[in-house]
Amino acid sequence: MAGKKAYIKSNRMKRLLLLPLAAICAVTAGHILTSCTDGNAMDISSPDGRLQFSLHLDQDGALYYTVNRDGQAVVDSSGMGIACKEVSLGRHAKVKKIEKSSADETWSPVWGEESRIRNHYNEMAVTFEEQPEGDALPVAYTLRVRVFPDGVGFRYEVPGQTGVDSLTVMDELTEFALAEDGVAWSIPWDHEYYEHLYEPSLVSRLDTVCSPLTIKMTDSLYVSIHEAALEDYAAMNLHPAGGTRLKSWLTPWSSGEKVFASAPMKTPWRTLTIVSTPGELLLSRLMLNLNEPCAIEDTSWIVPSRYIGIWWGMHRKVYTWGQGDSHGATTENTKRYMDFAADNGFGGVLVEGWNYGWDGDWSANGNLFSFTRAYPDFDMEEITDYGRKKGVRLIGHHETGGATLNYEAQLDSAFALYERLGVNAVKTGYVNPRLDGKEYHSGQYGVRHYRKVIEAAARHHIMIDNHEPVMPTGLQRTYPNLMTQEGVRGCEYDAWSPDGGNPPEHTVTIPFTRCLAGPVDYTPGTFNYDNPVPPYTRPQATIAKQLAMTVVLYSPLQMASDMIENYEGRPEFEFLRECPTDWDATVVPEARIGEYLTVARRDKDKGNWYMGSMTNANPHNSRIPLDFLEPGLRYRATIYADGKGAHYRENPMAVEIQSQEVDHETTLNLNLAPGGGAAVVFTKI
Ligand code: NOJ
Ligand code: CA
Repeated sequence: MAGKKAYIKSNRMKRLLLLPLAAICAVTAGHILTSCTDGNAMDISSPDGRLQFSLHLDQDGALYYTVNRDGQAVVDSSGMGIACKEVSLGRHAKVKKIEKSSADETWSPVWGEESRIRNHYNEMAVTFEEQPEGDALPVAYTLRVRVFPDGVGFRYEVPGQTGVDSLTVMDELTEFALAEDGVAWSIPWDHEYYEHLYEPSLVSRLDTVCSPLTIKMTDSLYVSIHEAALEDYAAMNLHPAGGTRLKSWLTPWSSGEKVFASAPMKTPWRTLTIVSTPGELLLSRLMLNLNEPCAIEDTSWIVPSRYIGIWWGMHRKVYTWGQGDSHGATTENTKRYMDFAADNGFGGVLVEGWNYGWDGDWSANGNLFSFTRAYPDFDMEEITDYGRKKGVRLIGHHETGGATLNYEAQLDSAFALYERLGVNAVKTGYVNPRLDGKEYHSGQYGVRHYRKVIEAAARHHIMIDNHEPVMPTGLQRTYPNLMTQEGVRGCEYDAWSPDGGNPPEHTVTIPFTRCLAGPVDYTPGTFNYDNPVPPYTRPQATIAKQLAMTVVLYSPLQMASDMIENYEGRPEFEFLRECPTDWDATVVPEARIGEYLTVARRDKDKGNWYMGSMTNANPHNSRIPLDFLEPGLRYRATIYADGKGAHYRENPMAVEIQSQEVDHETTLNLNLAPGGGAAVVFTKI
């Protein structure tokens, strides 16, 4: 590579990074690489020198790594490698080449939690030669490592080469031997679609769990293990391997293999976000940085928005998905929702239960779903014409019941129909414990299917909101039409869950766990708590906390969950009408996992700020320094606070709307009720 600049040890790095700095500043969108092939020290530090990743080989050539921060172990010596049917990599490795480089660029996502993201890392690519048993040819492969100020990513790459064709991954040998037995918040790996409550436990007591796995190692060291760019592989789960050692455990095919691949192949990146505070976890963009840049040339049709839906009515059994007297998806009902959306500034109306396939046990009979034939009482042309006049889009729905083959056979015609009618967003769903009766959603089978859908949707200019997904890994950087996904125990559980709904700690835990994987379709905003039937399932949050969730639980497409009649005449509804879903900047003034947090975001259009604070079942006094506001400006703070006597169980509806003038020197005092919250709009005066 031209213009190579060699460096070996971290103490030489500062000097070397100084050299290209002027160029970096001048061309922030550019990619600046320096490289060497002569260093044989297999370690690499973060640009700020605090994190260090080191590789080691034992005398047999087995591969290990460690990660340190400020000289202290974060990950102790941990195994690496991939066991394929054809050859095992990382068992008898010989180093062939070590290349080091660095990059510093700033890029702009099509939508997101901020409008500019810095991608700043040092990279080490170590090429090995593996000598398989017997007289087979040696196999070359590369371990690529990137170390950022806030963590580490590494992946295995097997180039095309003589003698290596197909690779059947039976096991991945990557380990994470955590240096401390910290508290980890986890859900079981194989629970249906990640719709589970995260439980805290010591790392040493974990069963097999899915990632992201967030761990409080010490008061000033937080780690989250996950992956980035899961493109044609199986999702990584984490399996206990003794003490605080976790081992990668890939979701298998029904036949037992983990991944069918062929060279050239690249695994997803294995990521460790390593920061000092829980708030920094939310601000890390390491996963996005490790995904490929946007593959869609014209992104003008990708537009974040807030919408409403004929949805809660089904979950609360006011309407049915299937045909009959209470059918929700009627032309008339949809028009009524469209009128409401137009009057209140919502971009669209989701309508579920519009197509043939819902009558009977739809989840067991996904093959019966048609994605082009509407029920007779749902006139798609009339509805989309009506919406066009009102400036409101119909948001499409494809529930598959997990029958992906039936869906794939209709994919292009289904998206073409929607495209012709001007529908530019579709919610997909896969309610069934297995895809096509046998494969896991998070296995390679599911990963391949979801990818097909995203690509087909992009061809038809359609945005996707995917329910029952594989855990997200940042693919939205490459395919920004993948707007949001579920993969969480969302607000639907507040409608019918036998345990009475999502407990207050759930929504102050998922920002530090599931939400680290990307936008989440939680659908907050239920204003009606009426449920006279035991166990009285309903939101376990005050109204003010529900408003706060719309800021905290980031999603560029976000639905206000309730039926429209429950929003009529409610002054606090103003917050849902107004709050954007696309942001210029994000800050986290306070955060404690499972206890409370506050997130503030600056909107892209006007530079106003929106803030959400929320607590668990305990009351919390938030004192928030407003130093994120622009100095020299005054703002009107409109505060949607818990009202007198508010309590998530006894008195969830009590909300008070207050207003005061503030500036960047003000400290805002917010008293959050048990299970409560506050939502604040800071409008420039
Ligand atoms: C489960 C989804 O999460 C929910 O939002 C949807 O209403 C039902 N499936 C029916 O598709
Ligand atoms: Ca679901």
